[in-house]
Amino acid sequence: MNILVLGSGGREHAITWALAKSPRTESLYVAPGNGGTEGIALANGGASENVKVDQMDAQAVLDFVKEREIDLVVIGPEAPLVAGVADVLRDAGVLVYGPNAAEAQLEGSKAYAKRFMDRNNIPTAAYADFTEEAPAIAYVEEQGAPIVIKADGLAAGKGVVVAETLEDAKDAVHACFDGAFGEAGSSVVIEECMRGPECSMLSFVTGSKSFPMAPSQDHKRAYDGDTGPNTGGMGVYSPVPIVTDDEMATMVEIMDRAAAAIPDYKGTLYGGFMLTPAGPKIVEFNVRFGDPETQVVLPRLDTDLVDVMEAVAKGDADAIDLDWLDSWAVCVVLASDGYPGDYEKGKIIRGVEDAEALEGVTVFHAGTTHNTEGELVTSGGRVLNVVALGDTFEAARDKAYEACDLIEFDGKQLRHDIGLKALLGRDSWK
Ligand code: AMP
Ligand code: GLY
Repeated sequence: MNILVLGSGGREHAITWALAKSPRTESLYVAPGNGGTEGIALANGGASENVKVDQMDAQAVLDFVKEREIDLVVIGPEAPLVAGVADVLRDAGVLVYGPNAAEAQLEGSKAYAKRFMDRNNIPTAAYADFTEEAPAIAYVEEQGAPIVIKADGLAAGKGVVVAETLEDAKDAVHACFDGAFGEAGSSVVIEECMRGPECSMLSFVTGSKSFPMAPSQDHKRAYDGDTGPNTGGMGVYSPVPIVTDDEMATMVEIMDRAAAAIPDYKGTLYGGFMLTPAGPKIVEFNVRFGDPETQVVLPRLDTDLVDVMEAVAKGDADAIDLDWLDSWAVCVVLASDGYPGDYEKGKIIRGVEDAEALEGVTVFHAGTTHNTEGELVTSGGRVLNVVALGDTFEAARDKAYEACDLIEFDGKQLRHDIGLKALLGRDSWK
């Protein structure tokens, strides 16, 4: 198969790496890719290639697909999905992994997602949605704090404020209607504040069926002890030792119910759960693989990803049968100094090969590129995802940190406590 992956993050490197392992992959392109997605060896002796195709330009993607006789397009990020790139490709007869724009509204509009959950009896935080400031403020005053304020549309993960005081809540409502998130904030969802550990369940969804992947747990805050600003994710592990069998069964059942309600959906559905005292509830749906969740989930998949993605894209649920390695995976993100705020780029990165020489270690790139001298340099906030597999959670965690020590670049920033709460047990969540 000739395959094109759209995207440039650690998620897309992990997807590309998994597709490259398949004996069925004849050629593999990534648009635009990163410093790690270029040159991954294929079983036939070839290698993956980065290509300069704008992932938001459906016609440009379609032209490339025709030129290189691409058999399958895998869309990584939410923006092209919400913009309808999958629709244009499907209309032209191309096999696509990733939902159409209509179903991508599950991530593209929080109000749409909430109504979907109501209709399908999916547990989630109580809410109300508003298109004007005055009634929104009145609702906040009536409900009291803590309360959660969300810009309705895509805001690159920045449109959510968990307000601990009424004052912060009102400020957040005002900021949305004042244009802080552009069009995304012209409609606002206000939610009950839920408490509990968060847990992600990604699922292959096709033909109204859900095929869940192992659960994983992200670390969103920038600094140790879950302090500092929210980020795209500073580390993750899978599976999640604190999840009970009952919680797992409920999450699987919720994903089944969601899949049954979206018969045309062909891609990954990501359930972001909160494990509340009243059971798992959905915080959000995403219509794509998680980043960095994918970096710990796909290395444990023991089934050919090309077979799985082809079956999903064709709507052939009967052809899907997933096997998983009986191991633990821990990922620590190495970021640029200053991230998620401003940071410098172009710092030379050393030691990735040494880290990958350790048994069970894979380094997925995110913000990396090669400079004109051919050196690997930083080009983004989240730079590398250092992933280790191990027979135990502790072994995987120790190995990931050993690998992190071998990698150097100016301003390297990381959390030292990825997975620590999980090791300490459920009580470490307040
Ligand atoms: P979202 O973009 O909807 O995933 O929200 C980002 C983060 O905000 C989530 O991962 C949670 O940590 C937090 N959050 C969102 N909604 C709620 C809620 N209703 N209660 C508590 N925390 C929330
Ligand atoms: N790790 C959170 C996300 O992918 O949305």
